Amino acid sequence: MTELKSQFISAEFSPPGAFLVTGGTRGIGRAISVEFARAGAYVIANYLRNEKAASELQAQAEAEKFQLDFCRADLTTADGLQKVATAVGQLGRPFLGLVHCAAIGAHKPVAELTARHFEWTMALNVRSFFELVKLLLPNLVVGSSIVALSSPGASRAIPNYAVVGASKGALESLARYLAIELAPRGIRTNVLAPGAVATDAWKVIPGGEIKLGEAAKRSPLGRLITPEEVARAALFLCSPAATGINGHTLIVDGGASIASWC
Ligand SMILES: NC(=O)c1ccc[n+]([C@@H]2O[C@H](COP(=O)([O-])OP(=O)(O)OC[C@H]3O[C@@H](n4cnc5c(N)ncnc54)[C@H](OP(=O)(O)O)[C@@H]3O)[C@@H](O)[C@H]2O)c1
Repeated sequence: MTELKSQFISAEFSPPGAFLVTGGTRGIGRAISVEFARAGAYVIANYLRNEKAASELQAQAEAEKFQLDFCRADLTTADGLQKVATAVGQLGRPFLGLVHCAAIGAHKPVAELTARHFEWTMALNVRSFFELVKLLLPNLVVGSSIVALSSPGASRAIPNYAVVGASKGALESLARYLAIELAPRGIRTNVLAPGAVATDAWKVIPGGEIKLGEAAKRSPLGRLITPEEVARAALFLCSPAATGINGHTLIVDGGASIASWC
């Protein structure tokens, strides 16, 4: 990992390049914001409601002298998307990429899901990604990267996960199209698909704690994947070490998805 450190502080990117991390103040997104900032990037961490999480990250940024800024914006609204695009446009430094972590979802069987659940989930998980990429495209420099956070539910049927799984399937498909269409501009697009990671997201899933415990026991590693392990994979995908990787889905699940018993 040493060669990845400080990669964004170089003559090539002066001042250091910037990344936008959506959902970047909590859970996996927070770990990605921290990992990228530690690697020398200037990070804009987007969030919506949780001021406490943002304040905690701000305190860490001040203590560790990160170059990290915040953009509170609802990515399901035109105003929110524009606010983020304006923040990126005013950076005055190379814009090196977008990591889309923000996600929500209704965890119910299909019979109980409504069109509203569907639209609410798609609006953040897929449509905001589509709109953000289009808005930020003029800012992305040659050598920049887009990473979309997906999940095993994009390709496997997980109980009560239909609408989130469908949103992640659409997200992955869109990312593959971006990978092909944006490659000539020098922009790579990849998908990062973690296994189960203990974050707040599991607190709103019925039986979430029990399911996490079961996932840890089933995992070939005998434990859950950590947010930091996902963050290091995101940094790798955006790094000069990954310039040949485009349109790939990188699974970070400790081998769970290939174990016959999982
Ligand atoms: N945790 C897992 O086991 C797991 C496994 C596979 C894939 N993933 C994927 O990894 C990503 C991160 O997961 P996580 O568990 O870390 O998520 P999380 O803890 O639930 O955090 C979700 C983030 O999305 C933000 N957000 C929600 N609504 C928003 C909106 N309308 N506009 C802007 N931001 C909004 C939240 O902001 P606030 O903090 O302000 O509420 C929060 O930062 C997601 O894409 C998820 O699907 C997670």
